[in-house]
Amino acid sequence: MPAGSAPLPPQPSTLPTGGAAESLPRLSRRSALLGAAALLAPLATSRVSAAPAVTAEAPAPRHPSGQIRLDSNENPYGPSPAARRAILASAVEAPRYADDATQELITKLAALQHLERTQIVVGSGSAELLNMAALLASLPGPGGELVAAQPTFEQLPQFAQAVGVATRWVPLDAGHAHDLPAMRAAVTDRTRLVYVCNPNNPTATAVRRDALEAFIRSVPTSVLVLVDEAYIDLVDADGVGSVAALTKECPHLIVLRTFSKIHGLAGMRVGYGMAAPALAQRLRDLQMTYPNIAGLRAAMASLDDHVFYWDTRRALLADRQRVEAALDRLGCAHTRSQGNFVFFDASMPVADFNRAMLAHGLRVGRPFARYEHWSRVTIGTHAEVDRFLDVLPGALGRKA
Ligand SMILES: Cc1ncc(COP(=O)(O)O)c(C=O)c1O
Repeated sequence: MPAGSAPLPPQPSTLPTGGAAESLPRLSRRSALLGAAALLAPLATSRVSAAPAVTAEAPAPRHPSGQIRLDSNENPYGPSPAARRAILASAVEAPRYADDATQELITKLAALQHLERTQIVVGSGSAELLNMAALLASLPGPGGELVAAQPTFEQLPQFAQAVGVATRWVPLDAGHAHDLPAMRAAVTDRTRLVYVCNPNNPTATAVRRDALEAFIRSVPTSVLVLVDEAYIDLVDADGVGSVAALTKECPHLIVLRTFSKIHGLAGMRVGYGMAAPALAQRLRDLQMTYPNIAGLRAAMASLDDHVFYWDTRRALLADRQRVEAALDRLGCAHTRSQGNFVFFDASMPVADFNRAMLAHGLRVGRPFARYEHWSRVTIGTHAEVDRFLDVLPGALGRKA
């Protein structure tokens, strides 16, 4: 269990089995079988049995061009077998609005995080919640600022700009991590929102929980602090952990999580925010759309699939370690990754490195501000990482 993360409580499956669902129109046997075949087809047989969920044969989503996609920090092992079954079973619920399922997920998340239900906001991906926070920061009118590290995940700064909130960028520190003292110094009376992505995308670095807590408490409560924990399930460094519990005490804190990373549900679009009840309501009031039933059922089933969670974490961390060891052997500087991706110095314009990788059918991350020679590679399946490691020395122009 990553330090500071809430435990995953054993809970009964929430898949619809009879009851109310029995009285709903049923899929015909033929269409149900066709649907099941389509959904489960890419699964290795070992993944639908009780065998470990993560295997070398697990399917990797391919780009239509056939390229191996190591560029978007997705989890190729997902969805979990339980989530796949839940997606299929959700078809009978599709004619109804998903309000009840949303409430069920909120109840489950509140129990998981030891928070009140009123503290949870479910969104269509955490990107929607980032946008909601930017919108909230824009409401007092023009002239407000967002304080954010550079580079970091750009969804929030970009949407903030679109709604009239300018970003005050704060460079990362010498260790490529959030420079919390400098970020605190950048907070002025114009600041409405501070963004801390922990672990940070794209650098894969994380700040310690105690330092982050001191930072959050030091920011005036008139300024919102948003901690984005999209990758928190992948951390293994001492002292790094979630600050979700602090939402019980800090009225200005928003903590975000997503089902797009360890749960492997990026295409299902489910994320959630945690905040004090009043702040959670202010966010909820700005919601632009509502999660869909397939995503909600998949998310609930995935929370219960502990085997998938732990097998996925083990597989991704082992391959992350292989990539870091290879970079060490090749003499490439890299950060100590706390996510499902590795950030390293390719010692050449990253466009050139990407082109060399693409020539071998591998898509890796794009250029990031202030790190023009650094590349970000997502940890794919074991076989995809094998392929990446085969190609890496040549792309870097070094001897294996
Ligand atoms: C740090 C961070 N936050 C949020 C997101 C968006 O996730 P979601 O799919 O939940 O919208 C990403 C996606 O890559 C991310 O890297």
